Amino acid sequence: MTDSEILIVGAKGKTGSRVQARLTQAGIPTRGVSRSSTPSFDWTKPESWPAALEGVRAAYLTYHPDLSVPEAEGHIRKFCEMASDAGVEHVVLLSGRNEAGAQRAEQVLRKSGLEWNVVQASWFAQNFSEDFMVDSVLAGELVIPEGTAGEPFVDIDDIADVVVASILEPGLRNRLYEVTGPRVMSFADCMAEISKAAGYDVKLVELPLEGYIDALREQEVPDYLVALLPGLFADLFDGRSAYTAQGVREALGRPATPFSQYAQKALASGAWNRNAAGRVA
Ligand SMILES: NC(=O)c1ccc[n+]([C@@H]2O[C@H](COP(=O)([O-])OP(=O)(O)OC[C@H]3O[C@@H](n4cnc5c(N)ncnc54)[C@H](OP(=O)(O)O)[C@@H]3O)[C@@H](O)[C@H]2O)c1
Repeated sequence: MTDSEILIVGAKGKTGSRVQARLTQAGIPTRGVSRSSTPSFDWTKPESWPAALEGVRAAYLTYHPDLSVPEAEGHIRKFCEMASDAGVEHVVLLSGRNEAGAQRAEQVLRKSGLEWNVVQASWFAQNFSEDFMVDSVLAGELVIPEGTAGEPFVDIDDIADVVVASILEPGLRNRLYEVTGPRVMSFADCMAEISKAAGYDVKLVELPLEGYIDALREQEVPDYLVALLPGLFADLFDGRSAYTAQGVREALGRPATPFSQYAQKALASGAWNRNAAGRVA
């Protein structure tokens, strides 16, 4: 391990911030980038990438808005070429399960000649507390498309632990870690756990796809998510992802974190506190 920095793309995001905190805690220098950093890094502007890559030894990549979008494969290809030219040795890519576009992007990294890891994650539990579904939880009603199957929601603290182990332990390199929570849960199961932890009822409403899209617009969910989410639900929640995988245990030698434990952490963070400043009780 040299003193050169570890590049974290999306360092203010859900997993990037956790990876950066863990590396900093371990005394490893990091360079966290995104559109708002200096130097800035924008996935849509490849001319912004070389400055971010200068002098780094390894990189953790979170792609925005989602690795399944059509342009991701080309961006990851170009990034790997630039990273090789810049002398980067190792790239860890966060990916999703059972998404054709994401798997094409994974293949680009795996064939790039760089040392690699793919952390292929199920849906994040933290989508309910740190992303687009937290407002629904606070409002007491989550809308999903009808017919949505179960998912082994993963605690992203586990993802960050797997990413950091991949970066720090050379013996874990050149492997794909499929990381999930320890059990498949329906969205109704999740709402029951969250209601129990939060101390108020969060009900689940299942609507036909058009009604779901209307509900997203009413909730003022950002346009890119309104465009992305129906496809993700259709592709992922038809039952094909309703199984657990062992990536957390393979990388860390411990079991994945249960959803109930995630819910306690989310509660303690204040994410579901209806009385917090700016929120309506
Ligand atoms: N959510 C899930 O359930 C799930 C499941 C499996 C896999 N994934 C994968 O997880 C990845 C996202 O990781 P995450 O959730 O940790 O990230 P995130 O929380 O979505 O954070 C993304 C960060 O990216 C930055 N960003 C936005 N647009 C950007 C751009 N054009 N160029 C560079 N940076 C940009 C933003 O900072 P600035 O505003 O400063 O740019 C933001 O802080 C996606 O690739 C997705 O496929 C998600």
